[in-house]
Amino acid sequence: VNVTFVLASGARLPVEIDEGESAREAALYNDVPGIDGDCGGACACATCHVHVDPAWIDRVGRLPPDSMEGQLLQFAEGATANSRLACQIRMTDRLNGLILHVPEQQY
Ligand code: FES
Repeated sequence: VNVTFVLASGARLPVEIDEGESAREAALYNDVPGIDGDCGGACACATCHVHVDPAWIDRVGRLPPDSMEGQLLQFAEGATANSRLACQIRMTDRLNGLILHVPEQQY
């Protein structure tokens, strides 16, 4: 499936990733700058913060604020209602073509 990362500079990086992998892996395997994913995808570091494109947020799903992911995102710089942790976005056919905006910095 295809994911496009839009960097803070405006550059667009389309990458391919297998179904079942996370958006964090899509970024890391393809050296997308700006996604660190320090904790290895365990939902424990918030350095894989992305802004889901408004056209996709309903399909990805907004976060319940009392979830573990939501609590971590409170520490992410510039988090908004469209923020998610890339390691918690499981790629499926439904998300083919997903657009994720990479924040300028992770913290
Ligand atoms: Fe650490 Fe996503 S990689 S929270």
